[in-house]
Amino acid sequence: MKMTHRRFDALVIGAGGGGLRAALQLARADAKVAVVSKVFPTRSHTVAAQGGMNAALANTLDDHWHWHMYDTIKGSDYLGDQDAIEYMCRAAPHAVIDLEHFGVPFSRLDNGTIYQRAFGGQSQNFGESQAARTCAAADRTGHAILHSLYQQNIRAKTHFFDEYFAMDLIQDEQGYILGALTLEIATGEVLLIEAKTTLIATGGVGELFRTNTNASINTGDGMAMALRAGIPLQDMEFFQFHPTGIAGKGMLITEGARGEGGYLINSEGERFMQRYAPKVKDLASRDVVSRAVALEVREGRGCGENKDYVYLKLDHLDAEVIKRRLPGIRDLCLTFLHIDPINTPIPVFPTAHYTMGGIPTNRFGQVVVPVGGGEEVLPGFYAVGECACASVHGANRLGGNSLLDIVVFGRAAGDNIIQYLKDNRYHRKLNQDSVDKALAHLLRWDKKPLDKQKVERVDTLKQELQQLMETYCGVFRTEDILQQGLDKIMQLEERLQYACLHDHSKVFNTARIEALELENLLDLGIATLTAALARKESRGAHSREDYPDRDDKHWLQHSLFFKEKRRLQHKPVRMRPISVDSFPPKERVY
Ligand code: FUM
Repeated sequence: MKMTHRRFDALVIGAGGGGLRAALQLARADAKVAVVSKVFPTRSHTVAAQGGMNAALANTLDDHWHWHMYDTIKGSDYLGDQDAIEYMCRAAPHAVIDLEHFGVPFSRLDNGTIYQRAFGGQSQNFGESQAARTCAAADRTGHAILHSLYQQNIRAKTHFFDEYFAMDLIQDEQGYILGALTLEIATGEVLLIEAKTTLIATGGVGELFRTNTNASINTGDGMAMALRAGIPLQDMEFFQFHPTGIAGKGMLITEGARGEGGYLINSEGERFMQRYAPKVKDLASRDVVSRAVALEVREGRGCGENKDYVYLKLDHLDAEVIKRRLPGIRDLCLTFLHIDPINTPIPVFPTAHYTMGGIPTNRFGQVVVPVGGGEEVLPGFYAVGECACASVHGANRLGGNSLLDIVVFGRAAGDNIIQYLKDNRYHRKLNQDSVDKALAHLLRWDKKPLDKQKVERVDTLKQELQQLMETYCGVFRTEDILQQGLDKIMQLEERLQYACLHDHSKVFNTARIEALELENLLDLGIATLTAALARKESRGAHSREDYPDRDDKHWLQHSLFFKEKRRLQHKPVRMRPISVDSFPPKERVY
């Protein structure tokens, strides 16, 4: 097998907003940086982010970063690390201005400042009244940000490896990450990239669930690579369901639609959110709204022939507001539902949206691993964005905080890498055993079937996995349901060894990629179910009907899942912010 070998100062795996923001920082500092992406960079999933990015700019209503910090901690159901949250909220206004200077075409208010809309879980003055904190480029904010970051990277001479699939991290015997083994999708050639630092920014794992808002590329490759390298994943039990995915299909209808004045109704025409969140109604945080929608349907107040969705009503809004502020979701409705939201309500249901857990990092994007009773930074290894867990989202992310997360921590990681490169000028010695192990992982898919009678198809296994996760690891969970899910996923894992690509006359590289992705998905499904079964409380998006209350005494802690022996370990939440007083846990009402 032909293998090319390249060396860079910094390797960035993933070309969404997090990876590109870090790469830009590095390229502008004259570091030799390579970005590996399994799709053309501007097709990365950041492109799909609709509603916007939070920052206390106070353009529409009075605002302050400290209120943003409070809302984020409350939204996280007190599981977020308060130092990282303070850092992110304070950095947010600067991050938006940076983006504006990179050329992001934000929507404007009449006075020329950046347009900001209301999103769920936002407040003024620590919960007093609704804030409007989400900076938007209509409802295509991610698209605008991703394209601007890509253009700036081209200008800064970042080196792109487009349509290369990163398979495995290369590691030395002390555990240092030395780069990654990648596969060029078009040719099937293997490329080994050695780097002084490696940053993973491969996004989340929405593809675990049958109905999701994610691009089909979101198979959690970076998280799974980290697991295989012996690094644990943090808080995987917390998966966010967005309350307004198009029912049965999953495409995202932005929370910005409710921010612009839209609201949910059940089959009785009732605006039911006033029963669940009397103060803020449809702008409660996502976990609260998703549970409310699921309960309305469960209790028989769903709409449609099968009573299995509710309606999002926008038809009372001025048509000009929809055309100007929400053109993308109007397009989605026209294309996929053949309805116009200007005059027809949209059928919606909670849909898998965002991975709150991920590779554990500190607020500089450095990966941290448990050592003895504490934790240590793994020098030269970084993760940012949805694949990482900083942890600023805790048990439930606020809408508008994910675009913020990627640009703030992308930049922070870039800055930290620049410093690291000054102190570490040479490549560490390559470990051939690790390269061979990664190659063997790839070549497993070129082998003949293990048992001709039992051959399994990759696509069948993937569909079964997605259905399983939707059924056994959804909005509401119980011990019994989760245990059934875990038993079934173990059976799928057993069947994976019989999966084979050789029932086709010709093996396409895309089939090879799908097989590697399936392995990643399975590992992450097992991590999610294992952590969810263990956490015996309800917190944020993890809603256990058999343990309906939050239990701070036993569970105000992060979980860490290790692939080896499927072991779980726990670590404390960092409750101390950097410069202000801590926000201690209290009852969470909206
Ligand atoms: O609803 C939305 O526009 C999604 C935003 C987010 O997930 O932050």
